[in-house]
Amino acid sequence: MDQLKRQAAARALEEVREGMQLGLGTGSTAKHFVELLGERVAAGLKVIGVPTSEATRLDAIRCGVKLTTLDEIDHLDMTVDGADEIDPDFNLIKGGGGALLREKIVAAASDRMIVIADDSKWVPTLGKFPLPIEVIPFGLGATRRAIEKAFAACGVSGQMAVRKAKDGHVFVTDGGHWIVDAQLGRIVDPPSLAKALSAIPGVVEHGLFIGLASSAVLAGGEGIRVIE
Ligand code: 5RP
Repeated sequence: MDQLKRQAAARALEEVREGMQLGLGTGSTAKHFVELLGERVAAGLKVIGVPTSEATRLDAIRCGVKLTTLDEIDHLDMTVDGADEIDPDFNLIKGGGGALLREKIVAAASDRMIVIADDSKWVPTLGKFPLPIEVIPFGLGATRRAIEKAFAACGVSGQMAVRKAKDGHVFVTDGGHWIVDAQLGRIVDPPSLAKALSAIPGVVEHGLFIGLASSAVLAGGEGIRVIE
């Protein structure tokens, strides 16, 4: 599986051009991309990146990739990031690694977003992977009730749980927020659910990426598929 992730990252690297301003995703697949990009940088390629998490920032520094911020530059040419699920309309679930907020800010500031993944992430309908929802801890009970109402209005339901870190404590995002993971099974209308969740005051961001990805590089047993 890790080899497939690296192959998808290598194919996305072929899209990188001299001088590009790149969004650098988070997760095990995106980490391969940062490492391979670092090899190209060592060989003389000049690019600059904006990382989508503290973990990716440290990886990029380790790999010698020069970094900047969205305060210093006004757009990104391309973001390369992983995903937890991708549907045929390029709607995504992201946030399995907890970086969805910065990932979405960076993707939205990019001319293109290429999703890299092993082909198990390609699904007919989103929702088997629990939907991450980044929330403010204050008033969480009220926020959860509002989320349940949004689910009901969008024809979905399911258990919600505050994400825990490996040490058993509540997982805290790079932005200092918490994540609620919702087991929805099947999200019938991702754009409507995305809109309903975004309207809830205690929701900082959610893992539905709608209209952001423009292509997917999927690596499987039978080779690489580029879907545009
Ligand atoms: C992190 C993400 C990741 O891109 C997503 O979880 C996929 O990760 P991996 O490449 O490790 O399967 O959204 O917030």
